[in-house]
Amino acid sequence: MSLSEKITELQAAGAAAANAAANSAELEEVRVQYLGRRAELPNLLRGVAELPPAERGAVGKAANEARKALEALIDQRAGRLAIEELEARLEQDRVDVTLPADPLPAVGRLHLITQTWREIEDIFLGLGYRVAEGPEVESVYYNFDALNHEATHPARAWTDTFYLSDEVLLRTHTSPMQVRSMEQQRPPIYIIVPGRVYRRDSDVTHTPQFHQVEGLAIDENITLADLKGTLQTFARAIFGPERNIRLRPHFFPFTEPSVEVDVSCFNCSGGVTAAGERCSICKGTGWLEILGSGMVDPNVLHFVKDSGYDPELVQGFAFGMGIERIAMLKYGVTDLRLLYDNDIRFLEQFA
Ligand code: DAH
Repeated sequence: MSLSEKITELQAAGAAAANAAANSAELEEVRVQYLGRRAELPNLLRGVAELPPAERGAVGKAANEARKALEALIDQRAGRLAIEELEARLEQDRVDVTLPADPLPAVGRLHLITQTWREIEDIFLGLGYRVAEGPEVESVYYNFDALNHEATHPARAWTDTFYLSDEVLLRTHTSPMQVRSMEQQRPPIYIIVPGRVYRRDSDVTHTPQFHQVEGLAIDENITLADLKGTLQTFARAIFGPERNIRLRPHFFPFTEPSVEVDVSCFNCSGGVTAAGERCSICKGTGWLEILGSGMVDPNVLHFVKDSGYDPELVQGFAFGMGIERIAMLKYGVTDLRLLYDNDIRFLEQFA
C-alpha cells in the first residue's frame, strides 16, 4: 500500500471512529488513538523526512491535510456531543418546584382561640345567623346605658372598666352590638357578634383582654323555648350529640327573664367519673356553666323603637359566651394563661 493510500485509509478510519463515539469520553479516546503522540497519522508525518526528496512535498502535504481534516471533524463532533450532553443533564437535573418538600416542612395552624371562634361562627351560620362585628372602643351609651344598666351598676366603675374618657371606654362585652345592629336593621334580626372585650381583671382565671360571642335573635313570637332549643343545638354541635343543657335563673340588666346556661359535663355522669370518683371538672355537680342568656328586656327595645323594634310586636333572646371558656372546656385546657403564652408545644396540640 502506498503511503498516500495509507493516509487516506487512516483518515477514513479515524472519521468513522469519531462518528461512532457515543459520548465525549469515547471521542477523546478516538482523538488520542488517531491524533495522539503515538498515533500512526502524525508518525507518518515524521516519516516523511526519510522519503526521497521528490515525494516529500506531496506526501507531507497530504498527511498534514488529513490530520487537520480529522482534527476538525473530531472538534466538530466534540462540540455537538457537548451540547447534547449538557441538554441531557439539564433535563435530568430539572427541579420541579411544585413537588412537596422532603421532609415536609412544619405547617402552622390556627390558634385555639381563632379555631374556636370560627367553629362557633360556623354553627350559627348553619342556623341562619349573620356575623356582625363592632367597635372595641365603645361609648358608655352602647356599653351600659342602652343595655339598661342602672347608674350604680358595679361594672360602670373605673376600677372594673378601662375608660378613655367619661363617655368612651374599651367595651366590657360584645353586647353593645345588640343596640347598634338593631339601629341599622329592621326586624327580624339573627346575628352573632364575635370579638375582643376588656376588663380590669388579671389573675389565674382572668386576663384583661379576652373574647366573647354575643347572640341576638329578634322576631315575632319568640319564646324562651326558642332560646333553649337554639342553645341546645349549639351545645350539641360544639360539645357532642350526647350533651344536654339546663337553664338556671340569673340576673342581667338587659334580659328579662335572665338565665345562666349549663351544659352536662362530658367528663362524668351526674358528677361521678367512670372510676367512681367525684368529677373534678364539674366539681361533682354534673354541669358546666357555658354562657349567660335571656329574653331581651323590653327596656332595651325601647331604645330602638324607631327602627321598628316595638316591644308590643317583636321579642327575642340574647346570649353571650366567652370563647376562651368554650375552648378550655372543649379541649380540657386547665389554665387560661396557656392560651396566651404562645408556647408552641402547647399550641400545636389541637390539630
Ligand atoms: N354580656 C354578658 C357578660 O359579659 C354576657 C351576656 C349575658 C350576654 C346575658 C347576653 C345575655 O346577651 O343575654 O357577662
